[in-house]
Amino acid sequence: MSIRYVKESGQLILETAGTAYHMKIDGHGYLQHLYYGAGTGHEDLSYMYRTYDRGFSGNPYELRDDRTYSLDSMPQEYTSFGVGDFRVNSIAASCSDGSRCAEFRYMSHEISEGKYSIPGLPSVYDNGDTAETLTVNLMDNAANIMVRLHYAVFEELDIITRAAEIVNAGPGTVWLRKASSACLELPFGRWDMIHFHGRHCMERQPERVPLFHGIHTLSSGRGMSGHQHNPFVILCDRDATEDSGTCYGMMLVYSGSHRTEIELDQFDCVRAVMGLNDDRFRWELGPGESFHTPEVILSCAEGLTQLSHRFHRVIRNNIVRGRFRYGHRPVLVNNWEATYFDFTEEKLLVIARRAAEIGTELFVLDDGWFRNRNDDNAGLGDWAPDENKLPGGLESLIEKIKSMGLDFGLWIEPEMVSEDSDLYRAHPDWALTAPGRAPMMARNQLVLDMSRREVIEYLYETISGLLERYDISYIKWDFNRPISDIYSHSLPSARQGEVPHRYYLGLYELYERLVTAFPDVLFEGCAGGGGRFDAGMLFYSPQIWCSDNTDPVSRLMIQYGTSFGYPPSCMGAHVSASPNHQTGRSTPLSTRATVAMAGSFGYELDLTKLTGSECEEIKEQIRLHRKIEPLVHEGLLYRLSSADESSRFVIWENVSPDRSEALLSIVVTDPKANGAPVHIKLKGLDPAGVYSVGGEIECTGMALMQSGYTFERLTGDYPSRQILIRRTDMKEKDDKQ
Ligand code: GLA
Repeated sequence: MSIRYVKESGQLILETAGTAYHMKIDGHGYLQHLYYGAGTGHEDLSYMYRTYDRGFSGNPYELRDDRTYSLDSMPQEYTSFGVGDFRVNSIAASCSDGSRCAEFRYMSHEISEGKYSIPGLPSVYDNGDTAETLTVNLMDNAANIMVRLHYAVFEELDIITRAAEIVNAGPGTVWLRKASSACLELPFGRWDMIHFHGRHCMERQPERVPLFHGIHTLSSGRGMSGHQHNPFVILCDRDATEDSGTCYGMMLVYSGSHRTEIELDQFDCVRAVMGLNDDRFRWELGPGESFHTPEVILSCAEGLTQLSHRFHRVIRNNIVRGRFRYGHRPVLVNNWEATYFDFTEEKLLVIARRAAEIGTELFVLDDGWFRNRNDDNAGLGDWAPDENKLPGGLESLIEKIKSMGLDFGLWIEPEMVSEDSDLYRAHPDWALTAPGRAPMMARNQLVLDMSRREVIEYLYETISGLLERYDISYIKWDFNRPISDIYSHSLPSARQGEVPHRYYLGLYELYERLVTAFPDVLFEGCAGGGGRFDAGMLFYSPQIWCSDNTDPVSRLMIQYGTSFGYPPSCMGAHVSASPNHQTGRSTPLSTRATVAMAGSFGYELDLTKLTGSECEEIKEQIRLHRKIEPLVHEGLLYRLSSADESSRFVIWENVSPDRSEALLSIVVTDPKANGAPVHIKLKGLDPAGVYSVGGEIECTGMALMQSGYTFERLTGDYPSRQILIRRTDMKEKDDKQ
């Protein structure tokens, strides 16, 4: 049993293999948060909370004579609003009488086997992990609002998920103005926050800052999880390192606008509230209706590496679905950086021929294949092949590509429409535009109203039509502008605040229908690179194009930052041309491959421009990739150095699940004349095992982890090395047994 109710003390305890989460229904019916951290037994931990009169923090009416009892200083599981907890709150609503107050008290709870589900939203699923669910029902009788807090415990994964359901239990209408997914309190300690900010072409840059008094907000109001702030945050001890210190992770399983508020309050307590962005949010709840929030994945670990490993595991095993979850992902060649919009069938076929010769498996035709699409100003919405570029249509192209032994993949951007398109001319009201206002344009395109049934049906017909008609085994699903002018022409004015979330309910429904109908198609998410890199999207697409920046040196930091929350198999990473198209930097082919092999591997350059020896080198790279892919994708990733700008090298290590193999990778970003050799201690090996390091030396895992390994001197422009480490004593050991 990973969920325990202790009736006498009112404790509710969630336990995973290594962590415990304690709550308590106190004598007045408030649901207090007591503790989240390493396992600590089943004692009533409320002894930790000494209360005293806190001056300007008031008291609930029935406790007005006990001035030590205040919601303003009490750690809670989900806050009340408008009744004296003045910190960041979890929920806000206007009730039918116009009041904006609610104070939630315990009503009942249920414990059940399996994982709760959230209608219409992606979430962690039970993959034979025997999850258990706790639902706590809280009620405010004056506002007639019920909050159902769902917790799922994945014992072996050391993961707890949370989501909330808000029910209008009264006869009038309630307008929700905020409905967060989870509130996590850290009442003691001193904490740093690590968050992942960025911009187009420079996503998920980690930034670590000590929390200061006040409210830190990490958010996106762009209608997408965004390049600017990833919906993932870590709170860790001030002195936490990769290997030590308590670290908490909170990840939202959602792809739209989000908000995380972290408050360090007057009493030095931390409250972190994560969920939908409430800026434009207003949801009408009729009598008896419910609202379901997206889910938050929580984990607590010792050190940042262990925290990452837990998130990697839950994403790989319990978020990603379908046949590409495990096993080989095709090595692809994408034509975008090779040709941009300027291609003909002939040109594509020459590239494809080379792609087949060098051993790739999948040819991806990117943007520009459909009518009126010679640049990014027109054509989105009309998904019929351009017969000028592809005289025989997609059929002929695909047939020829397949005859070379390659599979075929296609780029689409279904949620968008160009003003200059037949779709927009026929249905201008299908785009999100505010009445009487010329909309903001980005890439000269508008966003379709995914909250509309007709739009979802149209897109399902269109995409399933393409997948049925053509032999397509991969789809790159792009999304290339933020959402502004959010107004649905199919909803009344009072419900416009629902559009941003209804958009994602529509998108998720569409995606669900497609992945169910076409289980053999590999979907790769994309949004101007990694602008929608989140666990919500990973529920449908096992990999996401990590960034439009393909410069391996920039990618070191992007992939390093991404790795705190997301596993290597999710990060689309390609070898591109040198000098790089985004930064102009020149790097060796070997370094580009070293970095791309740390994710889901492919190529994105004009292969016909390569020399014979470069082609030979690529063949070798693909051979190596096939060998190491299982350990990179299924194994554990160790960040052996940081990737920040001041470091002169970046080192990481991938270790296979059985510790029999590892791959040690280094990129030197700033070689020093007469510099000290680079020395590093390895991690994750079997101390007793004997390993051959690059066929060069042989020593124990203990030596490599305690004494370390010294790299040969690496000089030149961004040199790199990939060193295979193999256990050599396995056979001997097996023989002895
Ligand atoms: C986005 C993607 C690129 C490419 C272009 C095509 O920017 O991130 O990889 O597909 O769109 O327009």
